[in-house]
Amino acid sequence: MIKVLNVCGARPNFMKIAPLMRAYREHGEFQPLIVHTGQHYDQNMSELFFRQLGIPQPDLNLGVGSGSHAVQTAEIMTRFEPVLGEYEPDWVVVVGDVNSTIACALVAVKMGIRVAHVEAGLRSFDRTMPEEINRLLTDAISELLLVSEPSGLENLRREGVPDDKVHFVGNVMIDTLLANRAQAEESAILTELGLGPGRYNVVTLHRPNNVDDPAAFGRIADALDVIQQDLPVVFAMHPRTRANLARLGLADRLDGMKGLNIIEPLGYLDFLKLMANASVVLTDSGGIQEETTILGVFCLTLRENTERPVTITSGTSTLVGSDPQRIISAYRHCRTASRDHRPVPERWDGLAARRIAEIIGNRP
Ligand code: UD1
Repeated sequence: MIKVLNVCGARPNFMKIAPLMRAYREHGEFQPLIVHTGQHYDQNMSELFFRQLGIPQPDLNLGVGSGSHAVQTAEIMTRFEPVLGEYEPDWVVVVGDVNSTIACALVAVKMGIRVAHVEAGLRSFDRTMPEEINRLLTDAISELLLVSEPSGLENLRREGVPDDKVHFVGNVMIDTLLANRAQAEESAILTELGLGPGRYNVVTLHRPNNVDDPAAFGRIADALDVIQQDLPVVFAMHPRTRANLARLGLADRLDGMKGLNIIEPLGYLDFLKLMANASVVLTDSGGIQEETTILGVFCLTLRENTERPVTITSGTSTLVGSDPQRIISAYRHCRTASRDHRPVPERWDGLAARRIAEIIGNRP
């Protein structure tokens, strides 16, 4: 049996490990374990996803919680090291680009344990993003680099990574979307929020350069003010963003927008239903750019760059930054355009996790 210890910590990790756990079980030769670092801990940022996606309960929760980057990363490393000593896994599998990803990869590699990185090779080329640093470092030390889109292959090749470390497996997040799409249709979220299909927009925001900076958040608020006069806007608000609203003095401004409904973060199924039926999704999340690509829903990405270029070339995403005029004019375009039919990105076919299990299972 191959003992694989899977690390997860933050919300976007959970949809990535769900299909992996299923694939290990189907493969039959794995003994999979889950370690949750506790980076995200609110019920609707963590536990709800385990329940809805049928992820087995973590074997261990390190309970690190929030902190500065140094504190959070160091705390994860300190608590993870003895866990590896106790479980002695053959592999540590890390996903995505959050602090839990680099922290656990670094500990494992120094203990001589092989690391596989799921979603390797993505690059925004913007080193002011904490995630870009996490991606570069995790890829530099992992033995297996499991790539979700063609740009990842090009980036790793350019960085001189040997071909035998790199596999183009597809997108595990899309495995989860395809597996849950029918069930998400049963969600009553549109009725609960009083919305009609295609007659509302959805917003999510959590990146520090959008929500920690009063000027950027203020510019985005200017755009939302105009958009909410066209169609109702549902803003599923990340706890980081919620904490900043009052601090940056924007709470009254957003509260005053009659068409804007600020709600708590939703569970996976409700949010999938909400996205699938939206007119336009405005977001700074990488995962949502990928999900709207498959759903065929217009996505305005409130960033100047993306590490997921296939969501622009094959998908529905447009980079709009935080300039209100740019956001509003892209929004108006979406409201009148009909989407051209583009092929789904290669290997976003629901089989990525199975490919990963095969590759790890066959690695000498
Ligand atoms: C983290 C990831 C980011 C990812 C995002 C998805 C890093 C560097 N960032 O950002 O890449 O896109 O998760 O959500 O790893 N908080 C709560 N409850 C929680 C979790 C967080 O209230 O369950 C609040 C705390 O005030 C915390 C803040 O959110 O300080 C930020 O959480 P943190 O995990 O540090 O970063 P995210 O912004 O969530």
